[in-house]
Amino acid sequence: MKKPTIVSGFSKLSKRGKIRWLVENFFTNPEEVARELKSFWYGDPQKQKIFDDFSENTVSNFYLPYGVVPNLEINGKLYCVPMVIEESSVVAAASAASKFWLKRGGFKAEIIATHKIGQVHFDWKGDYTKLHALFPIIKKRIHDDTAHITSNMRERGGGISNIELVDMTHLEDNYYQLKMTFETCDSMGANFINSTLEEASRSLRAFVNEEPTLVGTEKELTIIMAILSNYTPECLVRAWVECPVDELGTFDNGNMDSATFAYKFDKALKIAHIDVHRATTHNKGIFNGIDAVALATGNDFRAIESCGHTYAARDGKYKSLSSATIENGIFKFWLDIPLAIGTVGGLTSLHPLAKRSLEMLGNPSAEELMMVIAATGLAQNFAAVRSLVTTGIQQGHMKMHLMNILNHLEASEKEVILVLSHFKDKLVSFTAVRDFLNLLRNNASPELKMK
Ligand code: MEV
Repeated sequence: MKKPTIVSGFSKLSKRGKIRWLVENFFTNPEEVARELKSFWYGDPQKQKIFDDFSENTVSNFYLPYGVVPNLEINGKLYCVPMVIEESSVVAAASAASKFWLKRGGFKAEIIATHKIGQVHFDWKGDYTKLHALFPIIKKRIHDDTAHITSNMRERGGGISNIELVDMTHLEDNYYQLKMTFETCDSMGANFINSTLEEASRSLRAFVNEEPTLVGTEKELTIIMAILSNYTPECLVRAWVECPVDELGTFDNGNMDSATFAYKFDKALKIAHIDVHRATTHNKGIFNGIDAVALATGNDFRAIESCGHTYAARDGKYKSLSSATIENGIFKFWLDIPLAIGTVGGLTSLHPLAKRSLEMLGNPSAEELMMVIAATGLAQNFAAVRSLVTTGIQQGHMKMHLMNILNHLEASEKEVILVLSHFKDKLVSFTAVRDFLNLLRNNASPELKMK
């Protein structure tokens, strides 16, 4: 790599110009890298333009595997769930968990609430009691002033459902909020909420300027910012599975009975509730499923993650998002998770595969998709904890990872067949695979040596 130079006007360069600058400044083999970047462009230039327009300074596309999990039954309906994820064994694990529960009543899910939150943060140095007394009028004014933005959403059954004045001065001098609650129907609603909030802040400013009883207080108000909150604890879904303990079957090739499995599973959940290190990894397993479906359906997985982790710490201590009980011989395992997602707007219809994902799911409403995503997260979590308390995760994980190792070591088709068969009943590790491959290559017949 050459010493990086400051570039000006980069965003104004054409895509080819950007690539040229990039490869000439950061790579020793510019032609090869330029060819490689272009090789990942979409075949159809019209479609590529859609991708280019999603972001800025786009030079190529970054591929991730797009897989599907068939047989996920939720509330008696069968889904084939699309997942975008690079980690070996995540899709296989979700598929195995779906199949496991298919024979035991499937997954159940319900929507608990669908409220989203936004805030106008402001300083008020004037008399709070005056503002408080005027608040019913301010509220009406905000509803009126934002009506042109909210009218479509209101027609669809959504809009602003509540506006509160929150006094935060016990934490910060002069700090108040307009805390607004929204219903955004089938859209995630980020743009709708942010536009409404910005209009609400202008409305508040105009009210203070114009209200006769507030004359002279214009300078007492400073709008700090207006933005949605990604913490949506009241946009909540629950997914669960349950069955009698003795219907759980046996595990680890018959070496573990159902009662031992249920006991260990329940204990693993208790650990994830009391130990923050385990809780983080446990929840990461849940998000393996959740993020993958969010990505495949064109939803904002960063928003979902940040909300989920805040929710996991809602009692002041970070803990597991899922829970389990064994009561009266019944094993029950569930997940409560806030999911602010959409099935219209945003990338959902612009990204060609996000559109297909939604079609594959039967073009669900946002509420139905919340249930699908939560059930997939729970399936993922079940599969991970099941492995952890029985065989350990490495057995399955390394089997799936074997192909990555073989690709890394540039194994030929024939070598792949021989290696897969050799490791069928053996522990997979990078060293073991490399050593076996070296052995093959050193002793191989001339035919095998030709890659
Ligand atoms: C790996 O991506 C996820 C797990 O570590 C989750 C867990 O430990 O529960 C397997």
